[in-house]
Amino acid sequence: MESQSFHHDLALLDWQVELGATEAISDAPVNRYDLPKATAKKPSKPAVAAPGSPAPLPVVDPVAVAEQAAGVAQDLDALRTAMAAFEHCELKRGARNLVFSDGIAGAPVMIIGEAPGRDEDREGKPFVGRAGQLLDKMLGAIDLGRNREDAPVYITNVLPWRPPQNRDPKPEEIAMMKPFLMRHIALAQPKVLVLVGNWSCQTLLGKRGITRLRGEWTQAAGLPALPIFHPAYLLRSPAFKREAWADLLSLKAHLRDG
Ligand code: URA
Repeated sequence: MESQSFHHDLALLDWQVELGATEAISDAPVNRYDLPKATAKKPSKPAVAAPGSPAPLPVVDPVAVAEQAAGVAQDLDALRTAMAAFEHCELKRGARNLVFSDGIAGAPVMIIGEAPGRDEDREGKPFVGRAGQLLDKMLGAIDLGRNREDAPVYITNVLPWRPPQNRDPKPEEIAMMKPFLMRHIALAQPKVLVLVGNWSCQTLLGKRGITRLRGEWTQAAGLPALPIFHPAYLLRSPAFKREAWADLLSLKAHLRDG
C-alpha cells in the first residue's frame, strides 16, 4: 500500500512538473522580508562514540557491492535478480520497474542505450516509447528486429531505473551499475555492441562526443563496438538520419562479413 501511495504521489508530482511547475508554493503567502536572518551554522563537533556504545557501521562501497553481486550471477535470470536486490542506487526508489532487457538473449547484436524513460519505466522494457519505435524502424531497415528469431537483437540500457524527469545519469550511478552491465554483456555473449548515444559511450568507452564517435568501429568490453546517434536525438534532429543510415549499413556489412 505504502509503495502504491508513493507511486501515486510521484505521478502527481511528475504531472505538475510536466505542466511546467518549477516551485512548490504553500497556500498562505510568505513575506520573505520578514524572515529572520539566517544564522551562521556552528560547525558541529565530530561525534565521539560513548564508551561501551556499538562500533559504527562500516561504510559500504556500492561499486564493490555491485561487483560482488554481478560476479556471482551465473545466468541472465540470476543477474536480473541480483540487480533487483541491489539497494544502493537511489534511482530504484523513484522507479516503477526494473528495466532489464528485451529482445533475444544470445543475439549477435547487443544494443546498449542510456536509461529508461517514462514509457519504459511503465512497461519494464527498454526502448518502447517514441525513441524505441524509431529504433525498431532503424533495425527493421537492415533486417534486424528484437523479436525476429532469424535476425534478432538484444537490448538493454546503462541504467535499469528511470532517472527522475529523465535527467542525465550521475557519474556515481553509472559507476555502481557498470559492473552489472559488464556482467550482462558477458552473459548475453553478443558478437558486437551498438552503443546508442553519449551515455553508452561514456560508460563503455570512457568518452563522449557522439558526433565524432559515431560510425567509427571501436572496442568495448572486449568486443567490436559501433557508436550511433540516439534515436531520441534523431527525433529532434532528423537531418542526422542520413548519418544514422550510413552507420546502420556499416553494422549490416560487419554482420555479413564477420
Ligand atoms: N532511451 C534510452 O536510452 N533507453 C530506453 O530504454 C528508452 C529511451
